[in-house]
Formats: sequence, structure tokens, C-alpha cells
Amino acid sequence: MTEAVLEVRDLRTRFAIHGASIEVVRGVDLAVAPGEVLGLIGESGSGKTVTGLSILRLAPENARVSARSIAVQGQDLQALSDAAFDELRGRRLAMIFQNPVGAFNPAKRVDWHLRQVVIRRQGQDAGWAEAARAALIGVGIPHPDRVLRLYPHQLSGGMAQRILIAMVLALEPDLIVADEPTTNLDNIVERQILALFRRLQGRLSAAFIFITHDMSIAAALCDRIAVMYAGRIVEVGPTAEVFARPRHPYTKGLVATALALKHKAERLKEIAGELPNLAAPPPGCLFAPRCAEVMARCRGEEPPALGPASHRVRCFRVEDA
Ligand SMILES: Nc1ncnc2c1ncn2[C@@H]1O[C@H](COP(=O)(O)OP(=O)(O)O)[C@@H](O)[C@H]1O
Ligand code: SF4
Ligand SMILES: [Mg+2]
Repeated sequence: MTEAVLEVRDLRTRFAIHGASIEVVRGVDLAVAPGEVLGLIGESGSGKTVTGLSILRLAPENARVSARSIAVQGQDLQALSDAAFDELRGRRLAMIFQNPVGAFNPAKRVDWHLRQVVIRRQGQDAGWAEAARAALIGVGIPHPDRVLRLYPHQLSGGMAQRILIAMVLALEPDLIVADEPTTNLDNIVERQILALFRRLQGRLSAAFIFITHDMSIAAALCDRIAVMYAGRIVEVGPTAEVFARPRHPYTKGLVATALALKHKAERLKEIAGELPNLAAPPPGCLFAPRCAEVMARCRGEEPPALGPASHRVRCFRVEDA
């Protein structure tokens, strides 16, 4: 892989809840190359959002984040003061959330927001109106002048998400984290926004982490897929390979569910069981209580990441294969 833009080593996030400390991100390693889209997938509650927020120093107040390293373009983010980090977040690091309207200042029109982006990127606003129009046209808004005059409450969810994406692209950041950016949109608008992301793919130089619980979205959009379960990455590899030949039993379940949905199977084969209680995690493999391929050994030891560097899997079965 080309030199990574983002390199995360042993990221851990704990929450203090009712006097107990619960580790919900449990030693995550990630590396994302320039122009690469990494899909971070897994069922609700597996720790995807907290991972994204922890990298961008946006985790909730009661979170304790630690890592061996979090580096962007070789720069150690953990060494930065909060003020220096904020500065970076407005310029080189960007996050796209589920609720785009909440990302706008409600008292300011769209043009004000785009002007701030231009000022942040180049230190002054010269040529900002032209840049704003071009940014909106770039995300498929054909009449930018009308849209630039609107206030956030006048935007539909899909329009707001498009504008937010335009703002992020205009920053030309090194790292973009998008957290389920189409979840709150209706189906047609969701498809349009996904098509927009697909058009952008390959034109971006940023490292892009795309968080979704939907395997088919990840398969359509991402270069590589990292599957998260109970705070750990259990499988990571090239999308085509992970989708065609999933190796971790959990990934197999996600792929089977996605295929069943695609073929509109009458009985959807969901993965039975629930995420483990991380306040009292089971010994051994965290997936063992739900795993169809569980062996005696799995209940005593936690599997390390196995397999070639390009396709790692945390499962003892990979060792046998
Ligand atoms: N502010 C918080 N306080 C305590 N626990 C939290 C907080 N935010 C998230 N969690 C817990 O962290 C775990 C991971 O959550 P999250 O990253 O949101 O999952 P995902 O995005 O994969 O659905 C969940 O068990 C969730 O309940
Ligand atoms: S290590 Fe064992 S329990 Fe865990 S996923 Fe592999 S086979 Fe299943
Ligand atoms: Mg989430």
C-alpha cells in the first residue's frame, strides 16, 4: 500500500458508566492510503461511531481515549493541544454526520458557510463566490445561486447533505470520516447521495473512512472493508475479496444477510444473538457466543489478527485453513 495518510495503532476508548469502566473500542488498528475509501462496517453498537469520533477528538465527555499512535500525514495528533486540534479539524480533518442540518449555523445562509470554508483554506475570501458556486455544481446542485441564499432550515435533508459534502470537498482535507451519511434520507435521495460518493471516489486525494451498518453500501462504495465487532476489527481486506470470500464467521453472516436482502429472500437470515456485554466480556473470542463455527479453544483464548497483511482476520479457523 502507498504511504498511509491515516495511521491508527491500538485505539482504545472507555466510558465511565455508573462507576464501571467499559472499553467499547478495544485496540483498533487502521491505515488508510490517499484516495482510498475504507468502509467501517458492523451492526449497531459495535463501536464504529466512537472509533470515528475518537480519531477526530470528538468523543463524548465521559470517554477516555488512548492509542499507541494516531497520525495523519506522519503528524502525531495526540501531541496537539485542543486548540491546535480544532484548527486542524476545520482544515485538514473533516467529519460528515448523519444529521447534516445540525452541522450548519442556523442563523447564517449557505453562502456564509461556504465563504468560511474558503477563508479557512486560503486565509482570505478572494474569489469565494466563484469557488462556492463551483463547489455546489460539483455535488450536483445545478442552480447554485438560488441555494446559496437559503437558510439551513429551508434545506431538505438531501440538499443539506450535498452542501455539507461540497463544503468538506472544498476544504481539500487529508482525512474525511463520514458516519452513516445517508441513514436519515429517504431511499431515492439516499441513492443519489451514494451515487455522488461513487462519482467522487477516485477523484479525492483524502483518506476516506465511510461508516455504515449496511454491507451492500460498503461493497458498492469502498476499496477496502474493515468489519467491526464488539470494539474490535475482526476482518479487514479488499472489498471484492471480503465480499466474495468472507473469512470471519461474523463477516460471513453480514454478507449472507446483504445477499438475502438483494435477492429479496422471504426469510431474512440474520445473525442470531446479541453483542456481548462489554462490562463483563466473555473469555476468549468475543464472537464465540454467536458463532456457528465455535471450537473449544475459542472460549479460552482471544484470536489474534491472522492471515496475510492485506487480509487480516481475528479467527482461529483461519489458522486451520
Ligand atoms: N456517551 C456514551 N456513554 C456511554 N456509552 C456510550 C456512549 N456513546 C456510545 N456508547 C456505547 O459505545 C458502544 C459503541 O457505540 P457506537 O460507536 O455508537 O456504535 P455504532 O456506531 O457501531 O453503532 C455502544 O455500546 C454504546 O452504547
Ligand atoms: S475464533 Fe472461534 S468463536 Fe471466534 S469467530 Fe473464529 S471460530 Fe468463531
Ligand atoms: Mg454509529
